[in-house]
Amino acid sequence: MSLNPSVDPIERRPAPGIVDLRPAVPADLAMLRQWDRDPDVRSSLIDGDWHWETELPRQLSWREWLIAEVDGTPIGFIQIIDPEHEETRYWGCMNAGHRAIDIWIGEPSARSRGYGARMMELAIERCFRDPTVHTILIDPLASNTRSHRFYERLGFEFVVERTFGDHCCRVFKLTRDRKAAVN
Ligand SMILES: CC(C)(COP(=O)(O)OP(=O)(O)OC[C@H]1O[C@@H](n2cnc3c(N)ncnc32)[C@H](O)[C@@H]1OP(=O)(O)O)[C@@H](O)C(=O)NCCC(=O)NCCS
Repeated sequence: MSLNPSVDPIERRPAPGIVDLRPAVPADLAMLRQWDRDPDVRSSLIDGDWHWETELPRQLSWREWLIAEVDGTPIGFIQIIDPEHEETRYWGCMNAGHRAIDIWIGEPSARSRGYGARMMELAIERCFRDPTVHTILIDPLASNTRSHRFYERLGFEFVVERTFGDHCCRVFKLTRDRKAAVN
């Protein structure tokens, strides 16, 4: 894809275009696989195999898989889960009222232009639309320091360093109250 390169990333001015989220569908398979091969995406993921082929057709009450588009052109992926009900119990035993988000921009030319922040804003809005949700969690790899800055700029606060499988991660949270305060 080619995006307007004239936007100054240093100034962090919003990149052109309307960012939207839509449900991922089986027809997105080839694109998601292509994004999986991107080195920055690969190195940021705890689990490199998302079993797209079998998982894309599944409709699950505890999970949303979303494609981010800029003016209709897909650029990235967002997963939102309810960790209390997620079937592998990735987060352990959780109380109600949490959501956890995973995000990546698969198109390298679409990174560092403000689209990720907009995608997160839309995902956060989506999570807090449910009045019972009080906290959003994210768990970037401890080594992914650029993403830590990205989340902190969005209002997320560091909670704890935690190992998931073999991976050392940093857990960050954004509470509903904090979100209201940073707006
Ligand atoms: C992290 C990511 C979603 C941020 O979206 P983005 O549109 O690039 O971010 P924005 O333009 O809104 O903000 C720029 C900030 O994003 C982060 N960022 C940019 N490129 C990044 C990359 N390749 N890896 C990690 N973080 C990155 C940085 O914090 C950057 O600020 P900096 O220039 O001060 O370091 C996107 O860069 C990405 O998908 N990176 C690769 C995969 C990844 O790291 N996903 C997060 C897993 S926890």
